[in-house]
Amino acid sequence: MHTCRRYFSGLLRSAALLTLLSAGALHAAEKRDLIIDTDPGADDVVALLLALASPQELNVLAITTVAGNVRIDKTSRNARLAREWAGREDVPVYAGAGRPLVRSPIYAENIHGKEGLPGVDVHEPAKPLATGNAVQYLVDTLSKAAPHSITIAMLGPQTNLALALVQAPEITQGIKEVVVMGGAHFNGGNITPVAEFNIYADPDAAKVVLASGVKLTYVPLDVTHKILTSDSRIRQLEGLNNQAGKLVSSILNEYVKADMIHYGLPGGPVHDASVIAWLLKPELFSGRSVNLVIDNREGPGFGQTIADWYDTLAQNKNVFWVGNGDAQGFFDLLTQRLGRLK
Ligand code: BDR
Ligand code: CA
Repeated sequence: MHTCRRYFSGLLRSAALLTLLSAGALHAAEKRDLIIDTDPGADDVVALLLALASPQELNVLAITTVAGNVRIDKTSRNARLAREWAGREDVPVYAGAGRPLVRSPIYAENIHGKEGLPGVDVHEPAKPLATGNAVQYLVDTLSKAAPHSITIAMLGPQTNLALALVQAPEITQGIKEVVVMGGAHFNGGNITPVAEFNIYADPDAAKVVLASGVKLTYVPLDVTHKILTSDSRIRQLEGLNNQAGKLVSSILNEYVKADMIHYGLPGGPVHDASVIAWLLKPELFSGRSVNLVIDNREGPGFGQTIADWYDTLAQNKNVFWVGNGDAQGFFDLLTQRLGRLK
């Protein structure tokens, strides 16, 4: 009887060990190689800190910067600041396009402040930019990468990737998927009544990326305007009592003011960080595959993203469009991950 019980408990232990090992293997296999293309920007910095605090799931190969919320010298400085605050100077930052493909540059200093980072003091970080241009980095890295192995998080205008795709269309071979913060359908726009800032800032670039046929997920205003700060959510970040929690709560306190007033919202969105949350915990979100058309014609529809949510035109489904998210789940994830930083 005893021998029998020992035999079965041994079996159970081995099974438990196997389950643990395979869960570990699965986890390791799921770790993503990620390039973050960004224009920091308040919410970009929160997104960068969230990603850099999550090395178990995200292997951040590089941060590539683009002009958007502010000029390229400032977005590049702010990306290096985020890297320094995260204690992740191992991640290279490459500066990229200083202006959109065709249209004249626009900035969002009214929302992100003159330095592109509201609510905190900025300084020149010790570690410089990596040598070389972001566009060339994308071309070199994606053309040499294992087939469909690299994810790109696009947190600003899509100029860098569009330039890389025009220069070397074959780089799609290295791309696993592109996750874009951009666009608006049900929500309406934030820079015109119909256009969202990142798409409006360079709609031609967004069209190049869309036409490339890469796997695309859009995280639009439709979802980011449902994931809003509140006093208690900001307090929970502040309550971490570390540098990251203090920085992010100060940035958000300042950043959300304009949107709260403009839209009459009870809190403000943290747009770009939702892209990283989607990569870390897709179960917090829901959406559907749709046909997406981007308008780059002069006129009131410039920069509009037309997402055929109800499949009215029965066209090919070229993007996954995220429509909903768990707001408290997002802030809990952000708080938990920032708690790992200094
Ligand atoms: C997007 O525009 C930028 O101002 C933000 O950083 C975000 O990427 C939101 O429309
Ligand atoms: Ca951004």
